Amino acid sequence: MRVRTYDEIDPLAAFRLGVVSFGSAWDEAKVRRVRAHDRTYLEEFALYAEERGRVLAQVVPRRLAVRTTNGVEEVGGLAAVCSHPGVWGRGFARRLIEATHDRFRELGLSVSALTTSRNIRGYGVYAKLGYVDLAPFQQAIRQVTRRMAPKGYGLRAVRRSDMSTIHRLYRTQTRRMLGWTERPERALEWGVIRTRDYLEKYRIVLRDGQAVGYLRTRPHDGITMEEVVAPNPQDFRAAVALMEAKAETGIATVNWITARSDVTRFRSLGYTVDGPFPDTTMAVSLVKEIRTTDLARRFGGTTGKFVQYPTDDF
Ligand SMILES: CC(C)(COP(=O)(O)OP(=O)(O)OC[C@H]1O[C@@H](n2cnc3c(N)ncnc32)[C@H](O)[C@@H]1OP(=O)(O)O)[C@@H](O)C(=O)NCCC(=O)NCCS
Repeated sequence: MRVRTYDEIDPLAAFRLGVVSFGSAWDEAKVRRVRAHDRTYLEEFALYAEERGRVLAQVVPRRLAVRTTNGVEEVGGLAAVCSHPGVWGRGFARRLIEATHDRFRELGLSVSALTTSRNIRGYGVYAKLGYVDLAPFQQAIRQVTRRMAPKGYGLRAVRRSDMSTIHRLYRTQTRRMLGWTERPERALEWGVIRTRDYLEKYRIVLRDGQAVGYLRTRPHDGITMEEVVAPNPQDFRAAVALMEAKAETGIATVNWITARSDVTRFRSLGYTVDGPFPDTTMAVSLVKEIRTTDLARRFGGTTGKFVQYPTDDF
């Protein structure tokens, strides 16, 4: 097995592997666009396992800033991991992930992380490679009884000019947390480069016409709200009430709650918080100075300080 970079293989072979593994893939033009802007990708963009001219597995390595008990640091991130279904179980994904770990070490990164689901084959593969869960991911629901939108508050769609406001609100809310608190200022811009309609799920929360929060909503996926970011508790309550007023089924749902402060806020509004549900973020240490068993604590997962909102999914 040889390890190749995106530029060393036929882009169509990468596309084919993506489609057979995930049902969709990025074509060369999209890869070029993302590479030109998004600073979280490495120079080589993606690594592939090649055997006898066939492209059999893929890893897209990223470098991501996080905050741990050690301060702000950069970790490696594994995205778009897959192997051709015809060779599952033959160690191509494992060997390619190990090669990616070597690359991370070369770059001076001490930890590798990934987001996945405990429901899929990959979870067992990552666990066998030593990865551990960093924190429980929870959901919340509430039967909606109060449907009145609070006075003085409103929601509106997000415009490109809101990106810096969203970033400021996010930084304020996550100031005392650990984990994915170090979102790059241009993260939403990069999201739009990846997916043109990326901002459609975001809403700005207005109080007397001023932006005091933002959230995401995906009603077509059964998710009333996620990533409700409003630093002031009163604005947070109003944002939730506004979304409840819109809940189509009479039940409001919240996705991806990781931080204890968010659990507390939703519970105080009558929500039942449940979990852990299958989505998870895992990590492994790449150096002997850090024990993998200590990573959940370092990332705040054992103290309720871990935060990762859907914008920071990778
Ligand atoms: C997840 C995926 C990449 C795994 O690929 P794979 O080629 O089967 O992985 P490997 O053969 O390298 O498996 C690595 C090891 O884990 C073992 N393993 C496989 N499934 C396992 C499981 N459910 N539990 C425990 N171990 C498992 C393998 O036996 C292998 O052992 P070895 O290292 O001793 O040889 C592949 O199933 C895939 O592409 N899935 C679809 C896309 C996807 O879901 N990607 C993950 C997104 S997060």
